[in-house]
Amino acid sequence: MSRRVLSLIMAGVLTAGLLVGCSSNSENTKNDYTIQYEQATDEQKQGEESETLENVDAEDTGIEETESNETEEKTIVVYFSATGNTEQVAGVIAEATGGELFQLEPVEPYTDEDLDWTDKNSRVGKEHEDPEKREIELVSTTIDGWESASVVYVGYPLWWGIAAWPVNSFVKANDFVGKTVIPFCTSASSGLGESGELLAELAGSGEWKEGRRFPSNASDDEVREWIEGLGF
Ligand SMILES: Cc1cc2nc3c(=O)[nH]c(=O)nc-3n(C[C@H](O)[C@H](O)[C@H](O)COP(=O)(O)O)c2cc1C
Repeated sequence: MSRRVLSLIMAGVLTAGLLVGCSSNSENTKNDYTIQYEQATDEQKQGEESETLENVDAEDTGIEETESNETEEKTIVVYFSATGNTEQVAGVIAEATGGELFQLEPVEPYTDEDLDWTDKNSRVGKEHEDPEKREIELVSTTIDGWESASVVYVGYPLWWGIAAWPVNSFVKANDFVGKTVIPFCTSASSGLGESGELLAELAGSGEWKEGRRFPSNASDDEVREWIEGLGF
């Protein structure tokens, strides 16, 4: 073998060795980068995915908010009840209409003694005798979302044939413009009478309907039937 041939063989072996070495080095390097890249890409992808999901959620919420703002027409069931009968009826109305309940609470609640209508010297006895004493301060006359209410039920017990006067302060304090107002009451025996009309006069606004009187121990079905018949 000539020297030239030998050096050619040696050069060949060296080149092949270098090529193999390079290729295995670049493979290793690629693997490291690939792993890191893949990890980074995965993380980025996860970030993008969650961002996208967040964006979609935010968009969804936005749509819902817009829709609910456009269509929201609340029903409010506001009532005063001294011994629970009117409260029971109010609860059934709220359930049947999907309305929001709001209880009118006198700052000074009525005790059983206060409610003794047979005694002229009881609290109600005195208030009945002197209309000036019927200005009853309420804990609150402000209802959240009042502006978006289109139908308002106003409930009360009958006292001496008219609406129990704690309701007056609420009616006077609120603007009923654009609202349908439906009075309802409970009583031992008296009918609705003029109780609704008198409240409408005090309110001075709103489209007041005739309303309905229920017995003190009204059944839930009786109340539901009335609501279904109203069609609101
Ligand atoms: C001061 C007072 C006056 C009342 N006046 C009448 C009345 O004029 N006619 C009637 O039928 N019932 C009358 N009642 C009975 C209540 O209207 C009846 O018990 C009502 O269901 C009570 O409702 P509440 O439990 O929501 O307070 C009177 C009760 C009280 C305490």
